[in-house]
Amino acid sequence: MSKILVTGGFGYVGSRLVPHLLSLGHDVRVLDLMLYTEAGFEALKADPKWPEWEKRFSLVRGDLRDAGKVREALAGRDTVIHLAAISNDPTGDIDEVLTRQVNFDAVGMLLALAKEAGVKRFINASSSSVFGARTESEINERLEPEPLTYYSKYKALSEWLVLSASGPEFCAVNVRPATVCGYSPRQRFDLTVNKLTADALRKKVITVHGGQQRRPNVGMTDMINLYGILVVAPVEKINGRTFNFGFENHKVIDIAKIIQSELSDLSVKIEVTDTADHRDYHISSDRILNDLGYKPVSSIKQEVAHLRKVLESGQFPDIDASEHYNMKFMEVGRDAGCLAYLAR
Ligand SMILES: NC(=O)c1ccc[n+]([C@@H]2O[C@H](COP(=O)([O-])OP(=O)(O)OC[C@H]3O[C@@H](n4cnc5c(N)ncnc54)[C@H](O)[C@@H]3O)[C@@H](O)[C@H]2O)c1
Repeated sequence: MSKILVTGGFGYVGSRLVPHLLSLGHDVRVLDLMLYTEAGFEALKADPKWPEWEKRFSLVRGDLRDAGKVREALAGRDTVIHLAAISNDPTGDIDEVLTRQVNFDAVGMLLALAKEAGVKRFINASSSSVFGARTESEINERLEPEPLTYYSKYKALSEWLVLSASGPEFCAVNVRPATVCGYSPRQRFDLTVNKLTADALRKKVITVHGGQQRRPNVGMTDMINLYGILVVAPVEKINGRTFNFGFENHKVIDIAKIIQSELSDLSVKIEVTDTADHRDYHISSDRILNDLGYKPVSSIKQEVAHLRKVLESGQFPDIDASEHYNMKFMEVGRDAGCLAYLAR
């Protein structure tokens, strides 16, 4: 059993990862500012297994940039899964200072304090967006990142901090997920598959802008499965390494068709509009398949089917609410003058 700190553990991925780690028998602590919603924590407490999990769970509410809170969160931990971030390209562009502080500066401090606290394993969530838009046919880990946004630039720089910190006593690994899709109690609808699925269900129309651009995706079930594996993977297989993680490089029009076929009983239409954005992204995840022997456990189709069930149950009555869209939420914060407080 590992004693794990999950930073950002009540975000979209974390809200599914935390119960997964608890179900694997680990002791889990979350450090989170709970920027968007408390939904992940509420769902955890409502889980039928909570009475059994409660004694192996703790929460530190606080800011990753606050050394005192970070020390408190790291005390007694042997593993860190670092998820907390200003997450996604457009959200990161709203305030460069905030994005740099959270996605880069704080990672350096977290690594230093983790070593000081005796942490042995550090798993960092980077992003496949560090590659930017590329023309090479094979986008693998040997290519240099060419980030296009503040989000991807500071993610790329944080990878460098993580690799620099790795050593015989400190196993450190970067994961570059594709866009994650699927259900989470802290639901995001600003991610392609989730948004198109919600639109298909409520409007019976999927609007695709352009459609010929490829967008790599990975299922939530795979995402949390991988983090669980990395907690126990042999050090020599992961230490000082960076792994792409995404197995479906479909064109957006083909993602729309997958959703349409999964919801075939609903007669969903696909409308294609013009777009000025022709950026085409794809990644190769051969390294994680070959070197780590990772076997995918999910697919866009399966994640859409799960999300459909949840949406039809009425769990998210206001799909347009800003809590489901990182950029919209940050814009509300900026317009209310809150970002000046956050980025100081
Ligand atoms: N979701 C995706 O498609 C995707 C794809 C690639 C990489 N990633 C990366 O995976 C990680 C998790 O993504 P996600 O979708 O769950 O993001 P998210 O935005 O849903 O969650 C981020 C969490 O971090 C917390 N947080 C933000 N700033 C903080 C701070 N200063 N101190 C403490 N907590 C803070 C937020 O409250 C939130 O709970 C992120 O690092 C993201 O960049 C996500």
